[in-house]
Amino acid sequence: MITPPRPLAAVCLLLLLVPGCLGTPQYNNGFYYHDISNGHGNKEIFYDGVQLHVESQQPLVSAIRGSSVTLPCHFRYEPELSAPRRTRIKWSWLPASDRHDDSDPDTVPNLIRETEVMVAMGNRHRSYGGFRGRVRLRRSAPGDMSLVIRELQLNDTGRYRCEVIDGVEDESVTVDLEMRGVVFPYYSQHGRYHYNFLGAQAACEEQDATLASFEQLFTAWEEGLDWCNAGWLADGTVQYPITTPRAGCGGVALSPGLRSYGQRHRLLHRYDAFCFSASLKGTVYFLIHPSNLTFSEAQQACRSDGGQMATVGQIYAGWRLMGLDRCDAGWLADGSVRYPIIKARAHCGTEEPGVRSFGFPAHNKKFGVYCYRLT
Ligand SMILES: *[C@@H]1O[C@H](CO)[C@@H](O)[C@H](O)[C@H]1NC(C)=O
Ligand SMILES: *[C@@H]1O[C@H](CO)[C@@H](O)[C@H](O)[C@H]1NC(C)=O
Repeated sequence: MITPPRPLAAVCLLLLLVPGCLGTPQYNNGFYYHDISNGHGNKEIFYDGVQLHVESQQPLVSAIRGSSVTLPCHFRYEPELSAPRRTRIKWSWLPASDRHDDSDPDTVPNLIRETEVMVAMGNRHRSYGGFRGRVRLRRSAPGDMSLVIRELQLNDTGRYRCEVIDGVEDESVTVDLEMRGVVFPYYSQHGRYHYNFLGAQAACEEQDATLASFEQLFTAWEEGLDWCNAGWLADGTVQYPITTPRAGCGGVALSPGLRSYGQRHRLLHRYDAFCFSASLKGTVYFLIHPSNLTFSEAQQACRSDGGQMATVGQIYAGWRLMGLDRCDAGWLADGSVRYPIIKARAHCGTEEPGVRSFGFPAHNKKFGVYCYRLT
């Protein structure tokens, strides 16, 4: 049984930002069901003593860019139903870049900002936005409503919600999707603290990357990233990761962690960027060439080899995810010169693994070159 939409609820749906509609952060899923409560203010829903359970074996899924991924979700009834019920499945999501701190009263609660990925009922289903034609339900067993996403893109990361609605009950579970990849600090060839938020976003995209999320920077910090220059993150905050507290980087009294300046003005304030790069379809490699090259010679040499100069995002992905280790300084597409080291050794920079940078040398200086090619 489905009750007709109530006019007030419909108005609230259109005017989500009207405070009266949001006395408590209540979530309207667009479906209406009979709420048969026991009349004692208890919010539990009873129906024939049967309860709907929605579960996921994996609350966090880590995936590779370009691949297919499955976000597990399964529902069952307890006790089992004697006759099947008509269920609707709704997958929705909150992109990693849109996640906010729900304790901030000025922002719209996360739950309300979720958008639809797919809605399915019986054998019919519909997918939305950038997911159109890329998602399906796995249905490998009764109750299996796992979402399969093909050709994963960098910006597919975030929190996905699997919701089962059967006209009586409405239960959901969330699954976080993260991309395997690497965070790197990036600054402009015009100097430090050059980018406003939009500039930082564009700079990461030029490096075949996206602005890193807070979770991605946090993971990078856990893995040892220490960087004493503040950079933009995807949520519009400015932070930097410190593993070894020291003067000038928040001071020695402050414990290791992410130092945050909080939300900064997206147009007026200027910092570096923290970018996130994920695994590559092609390969990044040091070009074997008889002589060292100027920047434009290097550009030409990669083209002649069937590729193009590698971006900074590509060399970091090659280093972190594909084992690229080479003690030869080479040009990259942005005009910087770098080399990737996994096993630290004499005359190859400092003691830690990493991608060494020589900044942005004059274009007539001679170095090797790193190229990128779809193989
Ligand atoms: C996500 O990335 C893809 C490919 O890079 C792009 O076409 C799409 O517009 C992006 N979507 C959003 C919401 O930014
Ligand atoms: C390129 O220059 C480096 C030093 O900058 C040198 O060690 C290397 O042998 C040179 N490579 C070639 C092919 O000349």
